[in-house]
Amino acid sequence: MKFSAAFTFLLLAGTTNAFVNKQFTSPSFPGCTTSTELAARKPFMTGNWKLNPQTKAEAVDLARGIVDSIGEDSPSDVGLFVPFPFLETVQNIAGDKLIVGAEMITPEMKGAFTGGVSPTMLKSIGIEWALAGHSERRTINGESDEDINAQCKLLVENDMNVVLCIGETLEEFEKSLVDAVCEIQLKKGLEGISADQMSAVTIAYEPVWAIGTGKVATPEIAQSVHESIRQILDKMYGSSVSESTRILYGGSVSPDSVDGLLAQPDIDGGLVGGASLDATSFGRIINFETVDVMA
Ligand code: 13P
Repeated sequence: MKFSAAFTFLLLAGTTNAFVNKQFTSPSFPGCTTSTELAARKPFMTGNWKLNPQTKAEAVDLARGIVDSIGEDSPSDVGLFVPFPFLETVQNIAGDKLIVGAEMITPEMKGAFTGGVSPTMLKSIGIEWALAGHSERRTINGESDEDINAQCKLLVENDMNVVLCIGETLEEFEKSLVDAVCEIQLKKGLEGISADQMSAVTIAYEPVWAIGTGKVATPEIAQSVHESIRQILDKMYGSSVSESTRILYGGSVSPDSVDGLLAQPDIDGGLVGGASLDATSFGRIINFETVDVMA
């Protein structure tokens, strides 16, 4: 999955269409085995509800079920990215047990942008987190790396937190372009964001071929990409940023796959679609079991 610098440069010259990490103060856990825990990157399990559920009543039931599954000694910080109409309702149910965020913003502050949602609007209802760069927005809505960069910058400049999603398509995976695609999307998505601002950035690696397909990346594949992403962050920002930035894996995460994924040293949590629509499944993901990779 490694590429020559020249090839990567050529790709970088083109374009691909293809939370805080302020809570790094979390203590590591007794019996910890992974460098995620050793580096005090407390695991972060986030749901992305996408265009679900269909009614406020269903959103209330789902949010209550998820909140009930978060214990006092939860092994994870928990977040839910939910549709705009449900933000305030879910926020009220969540209290301080989990972070509630928007699934996107418009990269503009005000004006003639029909359908737009700005950071100021979100902050005025207490929402301080948003996703940017989800592959569904890249492909279905045609958002470019430049659009996504504008969203990331607007969020951090307005003291919000962003989860920047990156990841390759199946075709790019089969052509061994994974690291190159991730490097382009990272560098373009984070352009103009300073090392200090990186405390407000979380990265989510979501291989497009694993999203909604049931084809979860093996822990080894995911670990290898996460390690590359951390190395790229290291080159961009230095080790203190790369070691403290949480890198989540997304793509068919389920109760069956979560433990193996979270046992990997560079996998710091999950961005979960389908399984976050079922409180029992997402509860099991939040309360993943620690597997000792050295055993
Ligand atoms: P699934 O967990 O349904 O594959 O979706 C992943 C995703 O896109 C989260 O943002």
